[in-house]
Amino acid sequence: MGFLGNAYPWVKSAHVIFVIFWMAGLFMLPRFLAYHQEADPLSAENQIWAERERRLIKIILNPSMILAWLFGLLLVLDTGAFGQGWFHLKFAVVLGLSGFHGWMAAYSKKLAQGSRTLTSKTLRMLNEIPGIAAAIVVIMVIVRPF
Ligand code: HEM
Repeated sequence: MGFLGNAYPWVKSAHVIFVIFWMAGLFMLPRFLAYHQEADPLSAENQIWAERERRLIKIILNPSMILAWLFGLLLVLDTGAFGQGWFHLKFAVVLGLSGFHGWMAAYSKKLAQGSRTLTSKTLRMLNEIPGIAAAIVVIMVIVRPF
């Protein structure tokens, strides 16, 4: 038994709960960005989407990412998962997902200022990233193929 002792399943539950909140936000934000992108930069709608995105990032995405990381790192320290193959891939995917989160928050600010550097089609394709990442991570933690 690791240093978390009987608290281990509670920490794991907290981890999965905040992962669900984080993933919910990661599924919503690219959708918001795709709608925002189609609004006229000078319209009131542009500012309405900017405010929706700002709230989603501030209230859901940022706090749940931090807590999913915090509880996840406690699990790593407790189990020594860092030495295991499945965890290396999970870690790489989760780092990528955190980068995607940061990139989306930055793109939301750009949209708010009226800039549109991507096509709507590209944005809609980026919508698939969180789903693919979640599938890989869940297979890594449950099947542990290596
Ligand atoms: C944010 C960084 C993350 C870290 C450091 C991390 C780390 C860990 C660790 C060490 C475990 C314990 C595995 C065990 O019991 O031996 C775990 C469990 C789990 N993680 Fe994460 N994780 C992270 C993010 C995620 C994400 C993004 C997802 C889903 C998309 C996820 C889904 C899960 C699930 C479902 C379990 C429970 C698996 C089981 O039944 O044992 N984690 N995580």
